[in-house]
Amino acid sequence: MDEERIAALRALPKVELHLHLEGAAPPAFIRGLGQEKSVRLDGVFAEDGSYAYTDFNHFLTIYEAATSVLRSPDDYARLTLAVLEKSAESGVIYSETFLSPDFCGGGDLGAWREYLHAMREASEAAERTMGITLRGIVTCVRHFGPERAKRAALCAAETAGDWLVGFGMAGDENRGSQKDFAYSFDMAREAGLRLTSHAGEWRGPREISDALDDLRVERIGHGVRAIEDLALVDKLVENGIVLEVCPGSNVTLGVYPRLSAHPIERLRERGVKVTVATDDPPFFHTTMADEYERLAKTFGWDEEVFAQIARTSAEAAFCDEDTRAALLKRLG
Ligand code: ADE
Ligand code: ZN
Repeated sequence: MDEERIAALRALPKVELHLHLEGAAPPAFIRGLGQEKSVRLDGVFAEDGSYAYTDFNHFLTIYEAATSVLRSPDDYARLTLAVLEKSAESGVIYSETFLSPDFCGGGDLGAWREYLHAMREASEAAERTMGITLRGIVTCVRHFGPERAKRAALCAAETAGDWLVGFGMAGDENRGSQKDFAYSFDMAREAGLRLTSHAGEWRGPREISDALDDLRVERIGHGVRAIEDLALVDKLVENGIVLEVCPGSNVTLGVYPRLSAHPIERLRERGVKVTVATDDPPFFHTTMADEYERLAKTFGWDEEVFAQIARTSAEAAFCDEDTRAALLKRLG
């Protein structure tokens, strides 16, 4: 592919539906905050300054260690701006980010309101100055267990509205089951929040069926291992379930050995609504522009495929209809 075509793809307007706010923190930002607060971050960084980890569980440990320097609403406001600046550089015009009351005030509702206010204000400033729109999805953390998830769900339910639009679950998929979190997802649904859950990243297709049946989610975080059960793939197509696919994350964490072995193209060919996202971009040495470039080079995707993916993402966004209409208009 020639340089000009690559540059054009990298510049396309993009919509990202799967981004963990703390996981998107530039390493220099976390290192700087650690120095300001005299917090030791032993083992968090490699010699070249990037995040250092060996496998998925170690990634989760390092993620939480890096997050430990984020201690106030103002820290989260600064983080939000730093993250949106990077996203905007990649051509992202709309993004949904996962937020955790567990990290923002330890699940306390009063504290959570302050953190949320700070992040929302930062996102509104970024919208004015950079033209990027952000919405929040509260996530519970699976390996923190169902009781802490209920507190996260209560924080989400009490602050649901035009900015805080969804509820989901991240964390270690190998612990417990989707069903353990049904109470929290029911509470969020009753508050009018839209639902997504990480499933089928580490465990197989059964986990995806469980998220659909037990939590009644409309989007799946990752969901790529659906490809191992074609009846499930048909069900995803029939029900219009959207997968938040993060190819670079899957390859870097070793779910697939290389991008050419990743099922995103097979899922798309079978009619599944796939979207493209970065998950935790600096951890996986990626950006939305990098994802586009690698997908184009590996699968031969052209501008029409990426335009379709951006439209699918806009249609699956959890925002209100006016925001969606404006977004679709910008996508052309
Ligand atoms: N938290 C941040 N990134 C994650 C991932 N890829 N899977 C599960 N939990 C996460
Ligand atoms: Zn994720």
